[in-house]
Amino acid sequence: CPPHLSPTTKPPLHTLISSNDFEAIASRTLAAKTWAFYSSAATDLISYKANIHAFDRIWWRPRILRNVRDVNTKTQILGCEAAVPFFVAPAAIAKLVHEEGEKAIARACGRRGVVQCISTNASFPVAEIVPTAPPFYPFFFQLYVNKDRESSARLLRSFAMLPTRPIRAIFVTVDAPVPGKREADERVRADESLSTPMSGVQAKNDAKGGGLGRTMAGYIDATLSWEDLEWLKEVTDLPIVLKGVMCAADAMMAVEYGVQGIVLSNHGGRNLDTSPPAIHTLLELHLNCPHIFDSLEVLLDGGIRRGTDILKALCLGATAVGIGRPFLYALNYGQEGVEHYIDIMKDELEVAMRLVGITDLAQCHPGLMITFEIDH
Ligand code: FNR
Repeated sequence: CPPHLSPTTKPPLHTLISSNDFEAIASRTLAAKTWAFYSSAATDLISYKANIHAFDRIWWRPRILRNVRDVNTKTQILGCEAAVPFFVAPAAIAKLVHEEGEKAIARACGRRGVVQCISTNASFPVAEIVPTAPPFYPFFFQLYVNKDRESSARLLRSFAMLPTRPIRAIFVTVDAPVPGKREADERVRADESLSTPMSGVQAKNDAKGGGLGRTMAGYIDATLSWEDLEWLKEVTDLPIVLKGVMCAADAMMAVEYGVQGIVLSNHGGRNLDTSPPAIHTLLELHLNCPHIFDSLEVLLDGGIRRGTDILKALCLGATAVGIGRPFLYALNYGQEGVEHYIDIMKDELEVAMRLVGITDLAQCHPGLMITFEIDH
């Protein structure tokens, strides 16, 4: 913290130049409950830390003399045009950090060409979030299936009524039949006043233990199984993506059950501690089912903090990556903060592409990296 600023004063936005800067400022300036909810992870934080450090253990094998003056980061994610191969991972109640919450994120994404995945536990209904982006702007929606299935069905059907049909895919979260034990969150007991209205459902607090995570999750249906995907296909004609795949066997089942995509994820280390970082699961897919990349779209999230992290995931076959906490920390500075954060990550990605020796994301391939340090 510069000497002329008190530790709880936010420094000017332009002085922040990385994911780490936004996190450091958030840790000092967010309300204690908000910081605990956003930053917390399950039990001993082993998966949380591994998510970040797994990327450090993959070394580049850069190529030289390739004319890298002009680089292009444009891509398509599940058929949606995107300026960059990263999207906003779904995260609950962004309103805790900024009163405009997901709406401010949507505005920033609309201006920068980034796709936002809206959480079932967003602070505002979808119908209020999407109009803040330009007309026809694409969004994804993350679904926690409700114990009251009809409530989930109603929510999904309501998307078809929205003018311009902005929701382009449904990400069904499958790694959280119950939320994990997030001790930092549980120590700061949930305050009833924080139970803001959510996208489709009002949370019912029938979960044991304290913490906002468990308080909100009482409505989630822990009986969900593979057979229920048929029900889901009946209530929505949108592409279905399973969020939270953690091994090759389940990735292959996802192909069998005919979904359009998977997100390799351990929920940012928030659910099952010692579940693998998604980049390890991506390597497992290469070893055990290399043809899977032809059958469905593979996305990944967890621990993405640098442009090089994004590029490594793409070189191993992911189409795009989700970024969770850093977007919430950027929202500490409102819409402008989110735009600035997107610019930083795009710049880091472009620098990484040039230094690795590629000019287009289509040139990403595993041969650009040395992965022998990862254990299988
Ligand atoms: C999440 N995540 C999440 N996932 C989901 O499917 N539905 C949700 O409502 C939420 N809510 C949520 C809240 C907060 C505060 C965090 C930090 C995360 C998980 C999220 O989509 C993503 O998987 C991780 O955040 C990715 O890890 P990083 O980028 O935070 O390291």
